[in-house]
Amino acid sequence: MKKILTLDDTYGQYSGQVLEELLTAEQIDRRITEMGAEISAKYQGKIPIFIGVLNGSFIFFSDIFRKLSIDGEVDFIKISSYADQTKSSGTVLLLKDISCNITGRDVIIIEDIIDSGLSIKFLKRRLEESNPSSVRVAAFLMKESTKVDFPIDFLGFRIPDKFVVGYGLDLAQKLRNLESVYAFK
Ligand code: IMP
Ligand code: MG
Repeated sequence: MKKILTLDDTYGQYSGQVLEELLTAEQIDRRITEMGAEISAKYQGKIPIFIGVLNGSFIFFSDIFRKLSIDGEVDFIKISSYADQTKSSGTVLLLKDISCNITGRDVIIIEDIIDSGLSIKFLKRRLEESNPSSVRVAAFLMKESTKVDFPIDFLGFRIPDKFVVGYGLDLAQKLRNLESVYAFK
């Protein structure tokens, strides 16, 4: 039986909307354990810098980071493209840049979800400007119809083209605390 959630009055314009569980906590944990092993194998003997994309990646980040058998440094970058809507605004704003030196280092971007691909393109370009030794991407989710012109090196799940929440992902800053991923019906 799939878990169903109906948003109550505290969700204002979204009250009454019905959400259906898309990925269970167990599925997520299993896949993230595998991804942690893939990343650890790829970076054996190295100490990469993991750059989390705020806010959405914070739960994925802390889970995958604890699955690594290699050491890693941590930093964060904050961008905005959604502005509390459910569709990309088409413009990416850099709200907080990284605060470490990545020149000559191996960098892994930790992103929650790739939808239009605009954000990840922007982030890759920004980090490559600082001449790191490598930049790879680890994304928790990617939507079915998304195409980007570079590889997503480590991907958790391909999901249908629906708006999803939970496990760090938000609807207007809310619903991030759901343990699993839910899609709007
Ligand atoms: P993109 O630039 O269109 O690829 O969107 C990337 C960003 O938009 C992600 O980092 C998320 O923060 C947000 N986003 C995209 N799709 C969803 C969704 O289905 N639920 C919640 N946030 C999303
Ligand atoms: Mg995001």
